[in-house]
Amino acid sequence: MMMFAEGFSAGKSLISPTIKRKISEIWEDNEFKGDANEIFLAPKRFLGTQTLVLVGLGKKEKFTHVTYRQAVGSVTKFLQGKKFYDCSIIVPQEAWDHFEFDSIISHTIIGAHTASYQFNHYVTQKDSKIQPVSRIFFGSINGAKSKNGDKLIREGEIIAFSINFTRHLGNLPPIDMTPEYMGNEAITLGRKHKQLNVRVMGVEEIRKEKLGGLLAVSLGSYQEPRFIVMEYFGNPDSKDTYVFVGKAITFDAGGISIKPSEKMDEMKFDMLGGGAVMGAIKAIVELKMKVNIVGLVPASENLPGHRAYRPGDIIKARNGKTIEVLNTDAEGRIILADALSYAQDYKPKAVIDLATLTGAVVGALGERYAGIFSRDEEFIESIQAASKSAGELTWRLPLDDEFKEMMKSKIADTQNISGSRYGGASTGAAFLEYFTNYTWAHLDIAGVAWGGENAYRYQGATGYGVQLLVELAKKWAE
Ligand code: BES
Ligand code: ZN
Ligand code: ZN
Repeated sequence: MMMFAEGFSAGKSLISPTIKRKISEIWEDNEFKGDANEIFLAPKRFLGTQTLVLVGLGKKEKFTHVTYRQAVGSVTKFLQGKKFYDCSIIVPQEAWDHFEFDSIISHTIIGAHTASYQFNHYVTQKDSKIQPVSRIFFGSINGAKSKNGDKLIREGEIIAFSINFTRHLGNLPPIDMTPEYMGNEAITLGRKHKQLNVRVMGVEEIRKEKLGGLLAVSLGSYQEPRFIVMEYFGNPDSKDTYVFVGKAITFDAGGISIKPSEKMDEMKFDMLGGGAVMGAIKAIVELKMKVNIVGLVPASENLPGHRAYRPGDIIKARNGKTIEVLNTDAEGRIILADALSYAQDYKPKAVIDLATLTGAVVGALGERYAGIFSRDEEFIESIQAASKSAGELTWRLPLDDEFKEMMKSKIADTQNISGSRYGGASTGAAFLEYFTNYTWAHLDIAGVAWGGENAYRYQGATGYGVQLLVELAKKWAE
């Protein structure tokens, strides 16, 4: 397969003159224009036993890592549909004029492997299953080489498979993907990598550790909660430790403040903050990055039931602050209150949490941008940089003292919803800040954590955040 930008001149390439001429003919005959994601399948025997597919990269001025990834994804899905599982990707120089060749390699590998991932674990009829594209070769049209080529391909694979790991956790049905299951996945990772310490707490330990929020939210479910701690000290010479925190509600029915049933099935994805943290840690460990990272994942279900916590309850989080529960569906912030308090023990250099926290952020930013909140300009900037190189979009939203004031209770230290219908993403973030005492940022990924099928991916969990966290860790490892 080859990728072309609009206006590409085949003359510059160093591929064999015959192929070059044949491609020029397609070009001249206007059979293929190079529009973004446009796909051209050359007729049989056009290239002998190999099949030639062209994919457009669109206008050069509009070319970004995101548009490039989409083109790679589109053509990979197309090939997969044709049952070609082996492919060489050849990219013209024009494609990376504005980018480092190395980043083009990474995005090619990650784009292809994530596009071909499909969740078909529960489809019993074998032949309706689509296989992932298993082998991807990479070349450049003019013979440009990267001295890190092989390494970058391996790294790209590690990141892609970690993204797909997170997506798999998200796509699993909640009857199987319980807090216990999530804990076991963490334990399995810990067994595989001896540099990774994993500790998974059950109810008794959670009580002992005074994680009162996690305990309260879990009460309505037969499934017991877990508190997952994953420690990776890849740079023992440094005192700097960073913490990733991820919300993992394995199913959010809303509790006593029950949700309407329309689309309630999607609340199996409410664990994807935690899923992204686990995927990122998996990648960081496998990449053997020189950095100290701790992942904290509070995992619970949120169901109504005769034992469930209720509106009116007041509970105490790990840092001693009390929370008046006014709506049991604002449960993510309650379990995060404990996890963010727990992060204080590490005296962290910085903490970032990922959570499918509010419907409000989806209203504000739609399904492409995650909301980011932080008081620390420098931290915001490094997250935005990581977001850019990962091609996972973020947009800053406000967090200030007035939002924080709105989360004060008359009869407890905080309340879990504000008195206003508006600004829900910001009031959610403001609530979380009561449980932090370090440099901190919050990512509300409710709009981006899952989505429908499109040209470059199948429907379901997206794995958003895994690559962003890996990019952040890369910066810290410098
Ligand atoms: N998990 C939901 C947020 C959510 C809703 C994510 C829709 C993705 C799509 C969260 O626990 C929740 O229910 N939040 C409430 C908060 C409200 C009660 C203040 C919400 O957004 O409605
Ligand atoms: Zn909820
Ligand atoms: Zn939730």
